[in-house]
Amino acid sequence: MKVTVVGAGAVGATCADNIARKELATELVILDIKEGLAEGKAQDMMQTATLLGFDTKVVGSTNDYSKTAGSNVVVITSGIPRKPGMTREELIGTNAGIVKTVCENILKHSPDAIIIVISNPMDTMTYLALQSTGLPKNRIIGMGGTLDSSRFKYQLSQHLGCSPSDLNAVVVGGHGDTTMIPLIRLATWNSAPVTDFLSKEQQDKIVADTMVGGATLTKLIGTSAWYAPGAAGAALVESIIRDEKKLFTCCVALNGEYGQKDICLGVPVTIGKNGWEKILDFKLNESEQAAFNKSAEAVRAMNDVLKTL
Ligand code: LAC
Repeated sequence: MKVTVVGAGAVGATCADNIARKELATELVILDIKEGLAEGKAQDMMQTATLLGFDTKVVGSTNDYSKTAGSNVVVITSGIPRKPGMTREELIGTNAGIVKTVCENILKHSPDAIIIVISNPMDTMTYLALQSTGLPKNRIIGMGGTLDSSRFKYQLSQHLGCSPSDLNAVVVGGHGDTTMIPLIRLATWNSAPVTDFLSKEQQDKIVADTMVGGATLTKLIGTSAWYAPGAAGAALVESIIRDEKKLFTCCVALNGEYGQKDICLGVPVTIGKNGWEKILDFKLNESEQAAFNKSAEAVRAMNDVLKTL
């Protein structure tokens, strides 16, 4: 199996590092436009191989897409990250051009690749990737909800005093500070509803802290986070490569599911060798569906900006 990560910044490099450690690919290519950056990070990673005990061959490339030829999965992280105080949406002008060009170049050399989009604003970049490539919808997957659900479980675990791994909890809707919807009503601690163990105030705080999870880290670190975004990308690659059919929230093309069409938005899906395979209907209640519709409206407005670029 061959995997390419486009963008050797913090998120791309962390994603690649996780892919190498887990030996998800025989060959892993990291590509970046900045001269030498991908080669340097690839070499640094290869020098951990004997220490960590992996056999993946990691190769760097400065914008030479021929090196990515025959990739089964491609993760796109390229674009500028947000700075403190910036929303993900403010990145659209710059990142749209980058993501479109990257998709074109990738498909020239890997026409069968499944594409995972991490670049922000993620919902709109996923929609753009789908529209501009014309690929079958199952081969375009936006990563956002996977990350947001992981952050949701972290916030829940802090209040419950439990292992985040014992929690099942998903965030649906957009990957924006005001568009994501942590579904606390459906979250469970093993099989017990978490709401049985949390006051209304705690529940509200967990939801609010989850929604600004990325912004909180951007403020603390001075740039966008990378450990969890990179790991979330690698978890999706793993489910594809190993055909695990694990359930993740991903940003995918909706055609009537959850009451929406002509949009890419975060919903629970199984991820396997064909990309995203099945959308699960979590039967939202009235207020959750209203929030989902509102989220769709905001993402649609952002998608409309693409027409003006
Ligand atoms: C975040 C960026 C990757 O949420 O969207 O940290």
